[in-house]
Formats: sequence, structure tokens, C-alpha cells
Amino acid sequence: MATAGIVAFFVFLWNKLTLQHLEIIAQKQKIYPFNKNRSVSFNEDVIVVNQGDKTTAYSAHCTHLGCRIDKMEGDRFVCPCHGSQYDLNGKVQKGPAFRNLEVLPSSISEDGNTIIIKS
Ligand code: FES
Repeated sequence: MATAGIVAFFVFLWNKLTLQHLEIIAQKQKIYPFNKNRSVSFNEDVIVVNQGDKTTAYSAHCTHLGCRIDKMEGDRFVCPCHGSQYDLNGKVQKGPAFRNLEVLPSSISEDGNTIIIKS
């Protein structure tokens, strides 16, 4: 009986460690070129905004129905699908979207040439 308990414990432990390992693998990163002299850059599904010393990465997916935003008009990001507009801080300026753009956790590489987006 004690042996079965020990085996069950190790099976439980093995499964737990394996799941944690898979979760670590599932945490993906995306890496894009970074130019601190560009105020705005569009990289696939990420918008990078530089304002002074502050760099912010936003999801380029509109919070209305998820269309990818890939252009600006004046100082606003404009969704090509239904015209929602966001300012440089990702705040909704015109609907139909009513939620701000999602801020993505990011960091600049030590050499300053890439931005790392964590998902
Ligand atoms: Fe962007 Fe509708 S998906 S405004």
C-alpha cells in the first residue's frame, strides 16, 4: 500500500512539473526592430509608440471587432474596418470601439535595436 502511495506521489509530481514546463514554453516573445527616432512604427500586430523617453507597445487589434490597425490619420490610429480612432496613448477618440488599445508588456534590448513583446 505504501508503495502505491509513493508511486502516486511521483506521478502527481511528474505531471505537475511537466505542466509547468509546458506553461513556460507557451510564454512566447515576439521581437521586432526598434528605432528610437521613429515616433510610431507598425509591426504586424503590434504598434510601438515613442513619446520622449517613454516607449509603449500596443496591440494593433482594434478593440471593436479586432481588425488590424496599420495606419494613422494625423495623430490618430484609425481602424480600417469601421473607423474607430485612438490617440497616441491608445485611448479611444471615436467609436464604435469603446475600449482603449491593449498595452502589451515589452522591453527594449540592451543594444537598443529591438523591442521584445511578451505575450
Ligand atoms: Fe475596428 Fe470595428 S473593428 S472599428
